[in-house]
Amino acid sequence: MSYDIKITKVEKSKVSEFDFDNIPLGRAFTDHMFVCEYANGQWNNPRIEPLKQISMHPATMALHYGQAIFEGMKATLDINGNAMLFRPEKNAHRLNFSADRLGMPRFPEELFVEGLKKLVDIDRSWIPTQKSSALYLRPFMYADEPFIGMRAATHYKFIIIASPSGPIYNKRIKLYAETEYVRAVKGGTGEAKAAGNYAAAILPTEIAKSKGYDQVLWLDAHEFKYIQEAGTMNVFFRINDEFITPSLDGAILNGISRLSTIELLRDKGYKVTERLVSMDEIIEASNNGTLQEAFGCGTAVGVAMIEEIGYRNQTIHVSKDNPVGKMVMETIVGLRAATIEDKYGWIVSV
Ligand SMILES: Cc1ncc(COP(=O)(O)O)c(C=O)c1O
Repeated sequence: MSYDIKITKVEKSKVSEFDFDNIPLGRAFTDHMFVCEYANGQWNNPRIEPLKQISMHPATMALHYGQAIFEGMKATLDINGNAMLFRPEKNAHRLNFSADRLGMPRFPEELFVEGLKKLVDIDRSWIPTQKSSALYLRPFMYADEPFIGMRAATHYKFIIIASPSGPIYNKRIKLYAETEYVRAVKGGTGEAKAAGNYAAAILPTEIAKSKGYDQVLWLDAHEFKYIQEAGTMNVFFRINDEFITPSLDGAILNGISRLSTIELLRDKGYKVTERLVSMDEIIEASNNGTLQEAFGCGTAVGVAMIEEIGYRNQTIHVSKDNPVGKMVMETIVGLRAATIEDKYGWIVSV
């Protein structure tokens, strides 16, 4: 099905004024945005227009009751200069999973992908070509009905904005295993990409950073014993040549990098197990020398090698070598650059 997306372009692009050698993380935006509104039970008027401020009534429900969800993905250029997306249909699907959990309307998944492609195509001159850089895409949906009262809104906006981004970490990272605050609990909204999950994470993340860590490692909400995920990534541990990642338990974000890593590792012949993994198991493996690798993966960070984990006044050290983590990272970069053949069907050209 092809959608009628109305396009209004800027008179003059700002791209020539943009310094691609000094990309300010999360602060620069392209010329255009994709917008669509939900009213009377349907999505109306999909369009691309110049990026501009959105006005809001002070009673806009998203501001009060938090019906706000989002996605994150990246567009890159391959070695032939073609723009491409990585498994965008998975993001479309996850947005609707989040929408279901927050009582929000589903967004047509084909229109999600088509809107992304059109926006990337129009703003393709904003895709950075520097190593580890990309055009970060942020689709989001929020309740924009002005109403005071606790119920599902009847009006929503779905918008996609795009922001050139550079590498986030150029180093191995340190995680702080949190034993006071929790991010999510089974039955809550942890498996959805809900704005409120990130609100709950901000204070603990600031505290972890003030202690010299890069991100929080979230533990289960009942015993602070089992590992869930990190701030913006799912995590993998290699113990005795088995890759272990926490199983999805209803409180962990179903990461697209996580899924791709599992599929890639299995395809390369590695054993991957999705199961409960406790801090005690990681401490024991670190102490007896069987903790071979640990890394996090997510759209924003790519693959981030973990150097150490702080947990209840101890420091858990991880082996310095990350050969398989690096292979995963290089394979995903190579698939995006078309230097590795995409036998998985993950790459979607714009
Ligand atoms: C809490 C959290 N976990 C995991 C991830 C990784 O998900 P993905 O690989 O889909 O980017 C993200 C990033 O989106 C995240 O915010």
